[in-house]
Amino acid sequence: MVVKVAGMSAEVAADAPEHDDNRRFARHVPVMVAEVLDALQVRPGGVYVDGTLGDGGHLEAVQARSQPGGRVLALDADPAAVERARERFAPYQGIVIAHGNFRDLLEIAERHGFQAVDGIVLDLGLSTRQLGGGRGFSFSDDTPLDMRFDPSQTLTADDVVNRYREDALVRVIRDYAEEPRAKGIARAILRQRPIRTAREFAQAVAGVAARGQRINPATRVFQAIRIEVNQELASLEQALPQAIQMLGPGGRLAVLSYHSLEDAVVKRAIRQAAHTAAAKVAVVGPKLRRPSPEEVRFNPRSRSARLRVAERIAGR
Ligand SMILES: C[S@@+](CC[C@H](N)C(=O)[O-])C[C@H]1O[C@@H](n2cnc3c(N)ncnc32)[C@H](O)[C@@H]1O
Repeated sequence: MVVKVAGMSAEVAADAPEHDDNRRFARHVPVMVAEVLDALQVRPGGVYVDGTLGDGGHLEAVQARSQPGGRVLALDADPAAVERARERFAPYQGIVIAHGNFRDLLEIAERHGFQAVDGIVLDLGLSTRQLGGGRGFSFSDDTPLDMRFDPSQTLTADDVVNRYREDALVRVIRDYAEEPRAKGIARAILRQRPIRTAREFAQAVAGVAARGQRINPATRVFQAIRIEVNQELASLEQALPQAIQMLGPGGRLAVLSYHSLEDAVVKRAIRQAAHTAAAKVAVVGPKLRRPSPEEVRFNPRSRSARLRVAERIAGR
């Protein structure tokens, strides 16, 4: 097997648009749909996996292009997304919806009879709908600090904010928010405990974090807590080799990320897969793919999106 890679670039995003204020929490607008369809070369009769179902925007597009005869497995860690999609997509042909974490991608796919697939899409982070769901994802709300994609897991944002020791909080804020004043912010959090709502947390952080940066520091710290709660980088690190392994010859992996650290994980995983004895990388197509200015105008949430694509080709 040989893996060809598109979209390798040193450029990374330091953006975190999903927690900005003044957002409406309606249905999620899918990002770079045309680019994803093009990257995956979706065709009738093909077999695909959407590892981040969300509100089903990418799923719907992939399903439409894969008919007649195509099959798509879509999974999400959030049972609410799964339930909604099961209802909405019931009349559609060739769609299988599953609840699960993409860190278990291989096992979930095998369980549903998806092997040697033609394409896999991962659209990372959270959906617009989750922001408005009263689960503490939006810091403008007086909602309890939760932030779990999957409410059956035990660790919540409340645990991280109110129970982590200072050094552990510093690690989360320094590593995931890349915040130079991590220690000061962690101490401010400790002083303000107990912090019960997302809004209280944003207020505690906003006064301390470094000023004059393009993105509100509270936004990045808030996102760092979410990354910790859901172990997002570790899940991604576990999922990517499985995704590459699951691709059939010529199959493609498309990953949309919205955070510099996610993008770095994706870039590294593709590189590593490309340099193993069983796989080789060739850079193809446009380097890093970004949303068009028109898309960013229409859907500002897309502005930090980075799309990377890998292709697995038969060879050795
Ligand atoms: C940006 S949204 C996807 C939006 C979707 N592409 C659409 O068009 O509506 C990301 C989704 O991935 C889910 N998610 C995040 N991490 C996950 C993981 N490790 N395993 C499974 N689902 C995950 C979130 O719950 C969320 O619903």
